[in-house]
Amino acid sequence: MLPKHIGFIMDGNGRWAKKQGKPRSFGHAKGAEVLEGLCDHLFEKGVRCLSFYAFSTENWSRPEEEVKKLNDLLVKFVKKFLPTFIKNKTRLVISGDLTSQRISDSTRKKIMNAVEKTSEFTEHIVNICYNYGSRSEIVHAVNALLERGESVTERSIEENLWTNGLGDVDLIVRTSGEQRLSNFLLWQSAYAELYFTDCLWPDFTNDEADKALMWFENRKRTFGGV
Ligand code: IPE
Ligand code: IPE
Ligand code: MG
Repeated sequence: MLPKHIGFIMDGNGRWAKKQGKPRSFGHAKGAEVLEGLCDHLFEKGVRCLSFYAFSTENWSRPEEEVKKLNDLLVKFVKKFLPTFIKNKTRLVISGDLTSQRISDSTRKKIMNAVEKTSEFTEHIVNICYNYGSRSEIVHAVNALLERGESVTERSIEENLWTNGLGDVDLIVRTSGEQRLSNFLLWQSAYAELYFTDCLWPDFTNDEADKALMWFENRKRTFGGV
């Protein structure tokens, strides 16, 4: 079986750069390039939705210069890929708290514009998790329901998550050897298979992705049944 939705925790950019004696931001730039071929490769295989953890709510604690580089990279990525997304009928979703004061108006505008321009597409989805934290997402969803006086159920929470409509995550891939979720898609990954590899994100080739898919194929998923 092929996963319908894969979540990537793109970790190890800093260590990758350090190994080459380069600044951490060099690793982030290289890491962003990985997405270019990877999305096409996985969509061609038949995966419907790809979620990428680009910037966590906790990542604001990094040095200001690195935070700025990461934010600039997102804007650059969106600008560069918007024409391709439109051409390939790929929907761009940005999951995260975009209302935050820490995000500049210009960044917000550019991102929202790209999201709107691709919102009609359903075949392929690229979901970038930016200023994203799973706990924050769940709190937002519950507050939205309470404000409207709606009842809190699993379904109503789900419908108010930033990832509404993307479905559960089938496979989580984390690079760089760390084995944790770091506040990524906690609700959506309740029954996800977890794949960890020592490969650092900038080295994550399409072949590495195929290894993860092969591993996934051999998992027996029972969802609590027998
Ligand atoms: C992941 O790489 C990218 C982001 C968190 C944005 P890191 O920057 O965490 O790289 P390491 O873990 O320090 O090597
Ligand atoms: C998780 O990586 C966040 C992203 C990949 C955006 P981190 O490097 O920030 O997470 P920890 O600190 O290893 O848990
Ligand atoms: Mg890291």
